Amino acid sequence: MNLHLKNKRALVSGSTSGIGLAVAKLLAKEGAEVVINGRSQTRIDNAITSIKKDQATARLTGIVADFNDETSVRSLIKQVGDIDILINNVGIFKSQGFNETDDADWKEMFNINVMSSVRLSRAFLPNMLENNWGRIIFISSECAMLVPEDMIAYSATKTALLSISRGLAQVARGSEVTVNSIMPGSTYTEGAQQFLKERSLQENVSEQQLAEEFFKSTRSTSLLGRFTTTEEIASTVVYLCSPLAVATNGATIKADGGSVPGIL
Ligand SMILES: NC(=O)c1ccc[n+]([C@@H]2O[C@H](COP(=O)([O-])OP(=O)(O)OC[C@H]3O[C@@H](n4cnc5c(N)ncnc54)[C@H](OP(=O)(O)O)[C@@H]3O)[C@@H](O)[C@H]2O)c1
Repeated sequence: MNLHLKNKRALVSGSTSGIGLAVAKLLAKEGAEVVINGRSQTRIDNAITSIKKDQATARLTGIVADFNDETSVRSLIKQVGDIDILINNVGIFKSQGFNETDDADWKEMFNINVMSSVRLSRAFLPNMLENNWGRIIFISSECAMLVPEDMIAYSATKTALLSISRGLAQVARGSEVTVNSIMPGSTYTEGAQQFLKERSLQENVSEQQLAEEFFKSTRSTSLLGRFTTTEEIASTVVYLCSPLAVATNGATIKADGGSVPGIL
């Protein structure tokens, strides 16, 4: 399918690894020019090299910025220029009991997971409206609706994104700008790989067994029953960026392997 993304320019926050990198890769493959972001030039360079390995002609630039630092975000916004597509992907998570999660943890989580997308959307939506075309995608999580007890702060940030996303879609009413959220399920990123590896060594159980146990006990609602790959999430994200996806607007799209129960 031709997604008609040639000549579009995209910014993907937090795109040196994981879901962000997979989205950047696929956008580039579809012909979009992509701005990569992470906290260090080395990680950006590595991401660009890894994309160019498969797509030598990919149009890529990189901007270093830390979303936990407002000044750094302001500098990124100044450097980016006009974009047609904004992927609010950057996000951190911690598995922590509610009473162990102090104010500093809450503030950091909200600053990176929520305020990053507020600041970027505020900066780039006006120009999209002026051009009468744009796509903003919020990368939420299945946790927005499942709310695991050891991830209440993280889940709250991911639920907040759903409101912001819906609200902005309404702000863009009557235009060809769409704003949507995607809720990925448990995804096999480098972080997940590392976590399984460490637990496997500690507990002397294979990574495969640990993964199976996770879907039996912790994420037993998953219909897929396995981690999704970053590419499987990226394909949903990039489709929603396409002009072909204009009818999907103000929506929350599950890409969770069916882990969030219910029809809607
Ligand atoms: N993985 C999952 O199972 C899963 C499930 C549902 C939703 N999600 C959501 O999907 C998104 C991506 O998750 P992921 O697991 O793919 O992430 P990841 O593999 O941990 O990658 C994180 C990316 O964000 C960047 N980053 C982290 N902190 C940053 C900061 N303060 N400023 C700028 N960049 C920063 C990292 O860049 P550097 O390290 O180079 O700075 C890296 O590029 C997140 O919003 C997450 O909540 C993930």
